Amino acid sequence: VAFAVFRLGYALFGIELQPVPDELLLSITLGLVAYLWVRQMKMFQDLDRSATALQDSHVKTISALVKTVEAKDAYTQGHSDRVRDVAVEIGKKMGLDVQSLAVVSRAAMLHDIGKLGIQDAILHKKEPLTDTEWQILRDHPRRTDEILSTLGFLDRESRIALLHHERWDGKGYAVGLKNHEIPVESCILAVADCFDAMNSRRPYRERLPRETVMAELDKGRGSQHRPAVVDALFDVLREQPEMWARGLSSSDQQTSRPVA
Ligand SMILES: [Fe+2]
Repeated sequence: VAFAVFRLGYALFGIELQPVPDELLLSITLGLVAYLWVRQMKMFQDLDRSATALQDSHVKTISALVKTVEAKDAYTQGHSDRVRDVAVEIGKKMGLDVQSLAVVSRAAMLHDIGKLGIQDAILHKKEPLTDTEWQILRDHPRRTDEILSTLGFLDRESRIALLHHERWDGKGYAVGLKNHEIPVESCILAVADCFDAMNSRRPYRERLPRETVMAELDKGRGSQHRPAVVDALFDVLREQPEMWARGLSSSDQQTSRPVA
């Protein structure tokens, strides 16, 4: 650019300037190009940061919605938070990279958002569900997928949540995948979800004893659950026994434990 300006001035006005060394012109030109490039990169980075911040705030808004719904129900208070924490610890133990851990974290927070449209009478029913009610309940992963897909930037999370009730032997729902067809992140979410469900009270039962939870997870190794994920959870529980204490028990019902 500097070279062009210099040439133009010379051609139009016949200005006799001292010849500028080529090396200097080249340095000026390269400096200018570098400056423009850095400025452009900074603009792109700022735009990227704004887009990420906007996406984060969308996720936080939806998470707040999930927590509000959970808070209404004494049996699911803080469930998504606890599932997220356990799932992330399992993911770390299995060596997932930082990006995948973030995806698992978001998917765990939002995995049951599809239950929002299901009547409380079904969700909180103490008696066995009828076939029709089971069908409605088993459709919630698809509803979650539909809701998250509309956002357009949670595709991985949406897929992981869709598959969080699949089983390693292929007998799960809502799609019916098996073994390695199921993404490892969904297998992690499934184990974390089951762990919290058993480690917390339910309308129809008290919180299960630790030995029973361990035995049930062990029984599901290779049938319901991906074996490596169960192993990873057992390692986490051995190293962080405080994870057990976070589950809801009947004493939390009276004190109405705040959502973590
Ligand atoms: Fe679920």
